[in-house]
Amino acid sequence: MKKIFSGIKPSGDLTLGNYIGAITNFIKLQHEYECYFCVVDLHAITVPQIKLELKKRIKDIAAFYIACGIDPNKSTIFIQSEVHAHTELSWILECNTYIGELNRMTQYKDKANKVGTDGLSSGFYTYPVLMASDILLYDSDLVPVGEDQKQHVELTRDIATRFNNKHGDTFTIPEHLIPKVGARIMDLQEPTKKMSKSENDKGCILLLDEANIIRKKIMSAKTDSEMKIKYDVLNKPGISNLLSIFSIITKKSINSLENEFKNCNYGEFKKALANELINIIHPIQQKYENIRTSRELDEILDEGAKKANYLANKKVRKVKKRLGLLR
Ligand code: AMP
Ligand code: TRP
Repeated sequence: MKKIFSGIKPSGDLTLGNYIGAITNFIKLQHEYECYFCVVDLHAITVPQIKLELKKRIKDIAAFYIACGIDPNKSTIFIQSEVHAHTELSWILECNTYIGELNRMTQYKDKANKVGTDGLSSGFYTYPVLMASDILLYDSDLVPVGEDQKQHVELTRDIATRFNNKHGDTFTIPEHLIPKVGARIMDLQEPTKKMSKSENDKGCILLLDEANIIRKKIMSAKTDSEMKIKYDVLNKPGISNLLSIFSIITKKSINSLENEFKNCNYGEFKKALANELINIIHPIQQKYENIRTSRELDEILDEGAKKANYLANKKVRKVKKRLGLLR
């Protein structure tokens, strides 16, 4: 059975972007693949975090995985820092990655341009290598991610290929799996920017938002003055974004939605979308509340860490042997 690995950082509350761009795919894939879904907490600390918030969010994300529909009997759910092999392999792979490659990572370049490099941790700079380790430890074939992570998966392929060529067949070469619709959910207020936990409050729907907040955010989403419900990312980024969201959560095609709403105004369309979203998110929130405080969550995470440790340690031993690091 082919293997899947993916992860979400506990650096903020989960957003509709995470749900649509990542989690909905995880749920589909778990029936066909052996899946590993990780809470990548060591990625969160590449930028400063508040201790108690981080501690809470790590388990929040694990609980959301399950509440959204990831079945812990089918998939392995675990916390990255509970599997030490991730950091060990990361160091080894850093010594097999060129500075030039890291300099080309757009996420790093954007951030460095914005805030400068003096205040940026070296962990932020090398984090694509930690991500490569996450993926390569489990011989992952496919990595379901949003568009923003494509470059990091490509770097992972390069690192793995180089290692295999130099030291013999060690790693499976993974491929990214990016959804056709929804790979980049945009901010509701600034629809040319990615919806993100750290950006605009009003432009970002959180999975924990109450129904009235979700409704308010959707109703005030920025659109245009044409009053035509049509998918056209270049000229109508706001409406196109809402159509993508609508399409993913209802599994209706964009075409059929354009048809369905062709005689409606933006207000009516937004109202229908808000209702659909609330119908999806409300049951997730209820399930989340139950699982978040249950003993079962800790048991699932213990079990997940055990399985992940077994596989990851085996891989690290193989890597060390290849390099002459095992006695
Ligand atoms: P992060 O929250 O940065 O750890 O991202 C976790 C996953 O969610 C990654 O696969 C991202 O590509 C995906 N993701 C985050 N924000 C969005 C967005 N606005 N649209 C689509 N996918 C997203
Ligand atoms: N870097 C990813 C993000 O910011 C999160 C991540 C870490 C990840 N390790 C991963 C995603 C491994 C897929 C596979 O969204």
